[in-house]
Amino acid sequence: MKTIYVGLLGLGTVGSGVVKIIEDHQDKLMHLIGCPVKIKKVLVQNIHKHRQVDIDPSVLTTNVSEVIEDPDIDVIIEVMGGIEHTKNYLLEALSRKKHVVTANKDLMAVYGTQLLKTATENGCDLFYEASVAGGIPIIRSLVDGLASDRITKMMGIVNGTTNFILTKMSKFGSPYEEVLKEAQRLGYAEADPTSDVEGLDAARKMAILARLGFSMEVDLDDVEVKGITDITEEDINYSKRLGYTMKLIGIADRTGDKVEVSVQPTLLPDSHPLASVHDEFNAVYVYGEAVGETMFYGPGAGSLPTATAVVSDLVGVLKNMRLGVNGRSAVSPQFEKQMKSPEE
Ligand code: NAP
Ligand code: HSE
Repeated sequence: MKTIYVGLLGLGTVGSGVVKIIEDHQDKLMHLIGCPVKIKKVLVQNIHKHRQVDIDPSVLTTNVSEVIEDPDIDVIIEVMGGIEHTKNYLLEALSRKKHVVTANKDLMAVYGTQLLKTATENGCDLFYEASVAGGIPIIRSLVDGLASDRITKMMGIVNGTTNFILTKMSKFGSPYEEVLKEAQRLGYAEADPTSDVEGLDAARKMAILARLGFSMEVDLDDVEVKGITDITEEDINYSKRLGYTMKLIGIADRTGDKVEVSVQPTLLPDSHPLASVHDEFNAVYVYGEAVGETMFYGPGAGSLPTATAVVSDLVGVLKNMRLGVNGRSAVSPQFEKQMKSPEE
C-alpha cells in the first residue's frame, strides 16, 4: 500500500495542530483515502526550538529545497505565513507538480489569482479553506454548497483576535494590551498582530470571500479598513449602557458589476445575532438571491480548529489524487478569462 508523503512548511500554532490531527486521526484518514499519510519533512526557522508536539527531530529542516524538491512528497502544506518568499516557494512546489494546501490569507489575498492559475496550469490542487474563519468551512460552502446561487452580500466577524479582545474588554473590563497578549499566547494573533488589530487581516479575508462569492476580482487597495486600535474602554462601556455591542464587522456587497468591501468597528444592538459571537469565534452571514440568508459560525482561530480545515483540505487533495482529477471549482471560467494576459 502506497504511503502518501506530505511536506510541511511551518510548525507553529497551526503546523503543530496539523501534525497532531494527522497522527491522531490516521484511522479516519486511512478510511477516507485508503492509504497511510506521513509527514516526511518540516521546514522551520529554528531546529532547536521546543515544539508543542512530539516530532522526530530528523524530519526538521531549515532548507526549503529539502521539502519542496523531495520527489517522494506529493503535497505541500504551507502554514508558515509570509507573502513574497512564501509565494516563491509555492510557485516552485506547483511547478514541480506538488499539490498545495495553505492557511495563508495574506498570501491568497495578494497572490491568490496567480497561484491558482499556476496550480491549474500544472494540474495541481491549491486549497485554502483555513485562510478564512479558521475552522468554519466557509470557502467550501461558497464554492460548492451555494454554487448555484447569486450571492449579493456577505457580512460578519472574520478576525478571532479582535473579537477576543473586544469580548474581554466588554465582559470583564480587561485592558486592551493585556488581552492582546493573551490572544498572542493562545495562538490566535498573527506573528505581527498589527494586521489583526488594524483590520487588515479581516480585510484580506473579506476580499477572498468577495472574490469567491461574487466571482469577481477584488483589489485589496479598494477595501476600506479601520481597525480597533482607537476603541477605548470608555467607548465600550458607553455603548453597553445604551444596549449596543462593539464588533469588528466586515461587509462585502455586490450591486451589478460593482463590489464594495469594508471592515470597521460597528455598534450592534445586543439583540443582533452577531453581538453574541464571543471570544475568538467568527460568524459570517451570506445572502443569496435564491437561498436567502445563511449564517456560518464557529471557532475562527487557534491550533486545532484551523488545523481541522487544513487537514480536511488535505483529504480533498488526496481524494482527487485517487480519482485522477483536480480542483474544487477553484478557478471559474470567468476567473480564467480575467487571468489571461491583461491586454487580451
Ligand atoms: P506561527 O505560530 O508563528 O508559526 C509559524 C511557523 O513557520 C513556525 O514554525 C516558524 O518556524 C515557521 N516559519 C516562519 N517563517 C519561516 C521561514 N521564513 N522559514 C522557515 N520557517 C518559517 O504561525 P501560525 O499561527 O501557525 O500561522 C501560520 C499561518 O496560518 C499564517 O499564514 C497564519 O495567518 C495562518 N493562520 C493562522 C491561524 C491561527 O489561529 N494561528 C488561523 C488561520 C490561519 P519556528 O517555529 O522555527 O520559528
Ligand atoms: N489572526 C487570525 C485571527 C488567525 O485572529 O483571526 C485566524 O485567521
